Amino acid sequence: MTAHTIQKFVSVQEAMENAQKQKKVAVRGWVYRERGSNAMKFIVLRDSSNIIQCVLEKKNFEKQWGDIDKIKIESSVEMFGEIKEDKRAPTGYEIAVDKINIIQIADDFPIGKDLNEELLGDRRHLWLRSRKMSAILKIRSTVFNAIHEYFRKNNFYEYHSPIFQSVQAEGGATLFGVNYFDKKGVFLAQTWQLYAEPAIFSLEKIYTIAPCFRAEESRTSRHLTEFWMNEMEVAWANFEDIQNYGEGLLKNIVKRVLEDNKPELEILERDIKKLEPTVKKKFPRITYDDALKLLKDKFKIEIPWGKDLRTIEEDKLSELYDTPVIITRYPKEVKAFYMKEPDDSNPKKPVVNGCDFIAPEHYGEIIGGSERESDIKKIEHRLKEEGEKLDQYNFYLDTRRYGSIPHGGFGMGVERVISWICGLSTIKDAIPFPRTMTRISP
Ligand code: 4AD
Ligand code: MG
Repeated sequence: MTAHTIQKFVSVQEAMENAQKQKKVAVRGWVYRERGSNAMKFIVLRDSSNIIQCVLEKKNFEKQWGDIDKIKIESSVEMFGEIKEDKRAPTGYEIAVDKINIIQIADDFPIGKDLNEELLGDRRHLWLRSRKMSAILKIRSTVFNAIHEYFRKNNFYEYHSPIFQSVQAEGGATLFGVNYFDKKGVFLAQTWQLYAEPAIFSLEKIYTIAPCFRAEESRTSRHLTEFWMNEMEVAWANFEDIQNYGEGLLKNIVKRVLEDNKPELEILERDIKKLEPTVKKKFPRITYDDALKLLKDKFKIEIPWGKDLRTIEEDKLSELYDTPVIITRYPKEVKAFYMKEPDDSNPKKPVVNGCDFIAPEHYGEIIGGSERESDIKKIEHRLKEEGEKLDQYNFYLDTRRYGSIPHGGFGMGVERVISWICGLSTIKDAIPFPRTMTRISP
């Protein structure tokens, strides 16, 4: 019988945490680094929890030394031995190995020190094993959990919309058409929204986390063609309620990551002082008009009323705050057809109760939301202006015909939030296999 079947494996992290009580340990994983001499082999072993240095002395492995000598980076092994503290080891512990099972000796690993972004992209499936990517993926997992936690705690139902859709909600320009048998006008979902609003008449408070697709012809550090959106929709909610939910959600996410992912934030060298204000302070809420004034007064940037804020302007505004800032009451013409025009909107300069949450540190728009227009005439008018066929939207317009109520919701770009929390230089690293204009493989 091999040791494999008689000894219980523990994670590297557990082995280190229990090192005082449990000296004999069995661990398994992949070779993160290795170096050797005639008499010794040092293997830094990696598993999903951490890394640990393992030392093998030739005199204990006379018969096996030939194989041990061949072990290269990313080979898979099981190690048995005694753990002890060692200040010189990378994580402060070392295992003196008395038995090793070599599971597979890896080929030469094609990721070395100086690979450019393009090559790392080609070898993404292997790069996922890096300490950087595993730290990000762990934080990503916490973020998803924190979203579910927040909405469940607030009595929302999880609800699902179709990915194949026959309508647009966020503008025709970024739709991905699909070959759908002999049908024309089938697209991948840009948002769940038009299929979510009908369901609040049944469930009142709903949320989802789902993939969304946008044919964005932009090669920025913020755009993916496939990304995950967390969306919510609430019956009877007013504009302020929507903003409060968005703020509560972001606070919960950042709080959770700060509590659960200290080691990962450290690996990413993220300055957590930059994240703490989001948990503690109330987010400033300013109007579009305020934003134009701030841009002019603080940065000498003049934007004519009616123009949408671009990335550079959002970035400038974000420099004024250490939490996300909520910008409200945008000009009607720059926002989606479903956003509500408030009663006090000036007919000469009509605005909508839409809100964008702009992240600190130049991470851009992380949430977009609004109160929804309930006037069916106004919605029909806007759709016609956008060249849409109204009969396609009939199912949606029924929400305004049968028991219409005040309501609203928002969408949060999950990768944008992860990017910001992790302090990434590109959104591509916030998702395992990024899809962009220029990359669809592996
Ligand atoms: O502001 P958006 O377009 O809003 C909607 O789609 C609404 N229907 C949501 C709703 O009210 N239910 O998108 C929401 C968020 C943006 O704030 C941004 O964070 C993210 O989705 N997002 C993207 N993230 C990555 N790559 C892209 N191409 C993105 N486009 C939008
Ligand atoms: Mg938006």
